[in-house]
Amino acid sequence: MRIRILGSGAGGGFPQWNCNCANCRAVRAGAAGYSPRTQSSLAVSANGADWLLLNASPDLRAQIAAAPELSPCPDDGVRASPIKAVALTNGDVDHVAGLLNLREAQPFSLYAAGRVLEALGANPIFTILQTQLVPRIELRMDRTIAVTGAGLDLGLSIRAFPVPGKIALYLENANAPDFGTSAGDTLGLEIVETRTGQSFFYIPGCAKVDAPLAARLKGASLVFFDGTLFHENEMIEQGLLGKTGSRMGHINMSGDDGSIAAFAPLDVTRKIYVHINNSNPTLNEFSQERAAIQSAGWEIGADGMEVTL
Ligand code: MLT
Ligand code: MN
Ligand code: ZN
Repeated sequence: MRIRILGSGAGGGFPQWNCNCANCRAVRAGAAGYSPRTQSSLAVSANGADWLLLNASPDLRAQIAAAPELSPCPDDGVRASPIKAVALTNGDVDHVAGLLNLREAQPFSLYAAGRVLEALGANPIFTILQTQLVPRIELRMDRTIAVTGAGLDLGLSIRAFPVPGKIALYLENANAPDFGTSAGDTLGLEIVETRTGQSFFYIPGCAKVDAPLAARLKGASLVFFDGTLFHENEMIEQGLLGKTGSRMGHINMSGDDGSIAAFAPLDVTRKIYVHINNSNPTLNEFSQERAAIQSAGWEIGADGMEVTL
């Protein structure tokens, strides 16, 4: 199974268009130790020819252009795409806006939680993906579903499960408990290769590693995990946004309740941070925070990075 990180950045990417924080200034200037990152998405394939996208970011057009496998082969028909399916972890803008890049009457399957399908269904702009060509398939919790698309079996299956998180920002209800969040607003996905039974986890948004999630991840061979912020208060301290990591529905890397501490007893073979926000000090390769996550056995995902399982 081949896994490619299409985009390792969080919403806004790195640099973010309107951001002048120290990291964004440095990457814009081409400073040593900083690499640009597009927004949050992975691509997976069992056979190297047919691909499942995990999230569809606003940068999808550029991500396809940067990955030759995702463009039509010269011998294909006049309309063709190796992208046969897309699975979503939530309804956030950075994970769904790229669906609009996949218009042009091309068949593929779209997998998401019922709550996210409802949000897409309530927005007429997504009718540009006609349901006869792009069936919308509900991911039911803790069921294994075989991935098919454009009449093909991709040799992969998805097991979706709820993780602690938050409703999409644009759906928040200030007057409801927890902003109106309910189960299924944020998913983790386990992607299983049918032939070998090998699997990995993709969890780009997660507010907390609670006991059920820890039990599920124990001994996993590969996890791509929420690396949004290093410190709970980094956005506030840098004057970027008056929100903590917890308020945004993201666990932090550091601290007693952070992801480094939570994963320490889990014996995960390979742990890769994705969905890294432009404020995160680990984006500087030479920072002490980068050294700290590396010594805890974590890698920082990068655009174009490939893992074979
Ligand atoms: C997030 O990951 O918290 C969201 O992408 C925020 C947003 O939609 O701007
Ligand atoms: Mn996001
Ligand atoms: Zn910035």
